[in-house]
Amino acid sequence: MAAHQARLTDEEIVVDLAVVMSAGQLPAAYWISNTLRLMLVDGRFSLTLSGGRRSIGHALDEVVWQDPPIQNFPARWAARATELGGQRIALGDMLLLGLAGANTDPAVCSALALDATGNRAHMSFSHGEHRCPDPAQEIAEVVARTAVEVLLDRLPDVTLAVDADSLRWTPSPWLRGLATLPVIFTPA
Ligand code: HEM
Repeated sequence: MAAHQARLTDEEIVVDLAVVMSAGQLPAAYWISNTLRLMLVDGRFSLTLSGGRRSIGHALDEVVWQDPPIQNFPARWAARATELGGQRIALGDMLLLGLAGANTDPAVCSALALDATGNRAHMSFSHGEHRCPDPAQEIAEVVARTAVEVLLDRLPDVTLAVDADSLRWTPSPWLRGLATLPVIFTPA
């Protein structure tokens, strides 16, 4: 940023860094923990790394479709009056993006949702000019995949320490992530 030809001021760099850190940290952490939760509670997924590489990709894809870290995103303001899905939107109206709802809208994606593996047509990174930047999406996927792979490599017998039903989600209208994910494992 400091070397960019646009010559950002120090203040602009600080604001941009804050956006990158706040936009990146929790969503990536929740992508990892939601994927681990799914693999720990759902018998379709193999928990051993040797049997599980395909499982990890499948679980990451399923989470980003069905259980995405950012469920709803505030906020957009309409730059002109328009109509969307039969609803009138006036100039200046505030719009909340229902990303998770869009992914699972039965009118558009019931067939996709059945097998989302490798399908990137979801809305979990939003869409348009202010979507999660493409390089950030790629970094997030590398980080999440590596985290799950390394965890299963180092702790191959990891299992859930509590009933799946007792896992608590952090209360938030925007983000979807667990407060804790208690597990048992043999120390390596
Ligand atoms: C390395 C991790 C990540 C980084 C560095 C990162 C970075 C960013 C940045 C800088 C923005 C602001 C873009 C803008 O305002 O123009 C953004 C927006 C966003 N990111 Fe990410 N992100 C990361 C991971 C994720 C993950 C894992 C998800 C969800 C699966 C996600 C979903 C979003 C969404 C929904 C937005 C809002 C887009 C909008 O305003 O419509 N991001 N991200």
